[in-house]
This record gives sequence, structure tokens and C-alpha cells, in this order.
Amino acid sequence: EDIGSFRSQLLRWYEQTKRELPWRTLAMTEQDIDVRTYAVWVSEIMLQQTQVATVIDYYNRWMKKWPTVEKLSEATLEEVNQIWAGLGYYSRGRRLHEGSQKVVSELGGEMPRTTEKLLKQLPGVGRYTAGAIGSIALGQVTGVVDGNVIRVLCRVRAIGADSTSPAVTEALWKMADTLVDPQRPGDFNQAMMELGARVCTPKSPLCNTCPVQSHCHAFKKVLVKQEKESRRL
Ligand code: ADE
Repeated sequence: EDIGSFRSQLLRWYEQTKRELPWRTLAMTEQDIDVRTYAVWVSEIMLQQTQVATVIDYYNRWMKKWPTVEKLSEATLEEVNQIWAGLGYYSRGRRLHEGSQKVVSELGGEMPRTTEKLLKQLPGVGRYTAGAIGSIALGQVTGVVDGNVIRVLCRVRAIGADSTSPAVTEALWKMADTLVDPQRPGDFNQAMMELGARVCTPKSPLCNTCPVQSHCHAFKKVLVKQEKESRRL
């Protein structure tokens, strides 16, 4: 089917071009589900307002100091702020710290096991972050919508409407939930983010190298426009 081909073309591209990032390696190989979930949680909070290239060193230092949610819960806020120094938006680090103490004292040291519970039980974890952690660390079949994904979806479906309106935002979340690959939701979501960051860029998108060009309605519209123009010549 059409969705099947969209998924497989996107995932093949991701396989071939993805960056090896420390939290990706850990999410794939770490057997302990709580460590895996904790690691992706830390990475997603750091990535909220900071670029991937900057996050890598901070993430590695953080995980070396606090490799588990229990270890983080025993840290002081001063230590947390020290490791966070330079990343900005310090409330992010504080909420991770608070969250770790909640996990240990209220959840028996076990990280939440579903996207819904991540959203409800972890402070500072909203719809996007819960979906990202759920899909990447837990294999939950939940789509994610961030700035990059909004741009990709609006172009693929040629949605011209204001993508910040609540109705369009809701439609995009539904679309993301429908599109996500149930076999590989974490890879699929990260592939959508990378496609938006590296190919389907805001200005001058690289349509010629896009793995889902054949599915893209915005690309087709441009092609049709160019064909009309060339006939007129
Ligand atoms: N930005 C936020 N989360 C990300 C992820 N898992 N991979 C790449 N970019 C991201």
C-alpha cells in the first residue's frame, strides 16, 4: 500500500544516512528497560531547546555521572546545575532531577512503561517528549509532531493552512499516528525528524535527494507548475 511504501522508503533512507548518536546506540543495545527509558528521557529533554551537536557532550557527561534514574535521584540540585551549565533553560535539568526523585519514591524506581504514563507521570514531559521516549525506548506505536515533522507533513499533504492553528495541529497529530510504522515506531519518528532537519528544510529543500519525493503532494504541485511553464515557452 501507499503508506507501506512511504514507511519503507523513509526507513531505508534513515538506515543509510542516520547519525550514530550516543542515546540511539544505548536505546538499541541496553537490555534494562529502565536504563533505556531514562537515557532517552535525558536525551529528549536536552534536545528540546538545544542542537544535537551541542547535546552530545552534555549527554555523555550526564550519563557518566548518573547512569541510572536512582543515581540521579541521589544527586543534589547544585550538582545537576553544574553539569547543566551552558545548556540554558535550567528548569529542564531541575525537572529531570525532580522526575527521578518521583520515579524512585512514588513509582518504585520503575520508569513509566507507556506513552500515556510518561505524559502523566513525568514533570516537564509533554505530548511530543512522551511520544518520542515511548516510541524510541519502549516501542510504543505513537507518532510525534515537532517543528520539523510539521513541515514534512504539511508538504507531503500540501497543507497550506496555518499549521499553528489548533485544528491543523490536531490533524497533524492524527496524521503522525496513522503514518508511524507499527514495527519500528522509534526509527520512523527519528527518520521524520531527520528528514525535516536535513532534507525537507525550511528554505530550499533538497527535493532531488528526498526518499519520499514520490509521495509528496507539494513536490508534485511544483512539478506541474514547472511543466505548465515549460509548455508556455
Ligand atoms: N530532536 C529531538 N529528538 C531527536 C532525536 N531523537 N533525533 C534527532 N533529533 C532529535
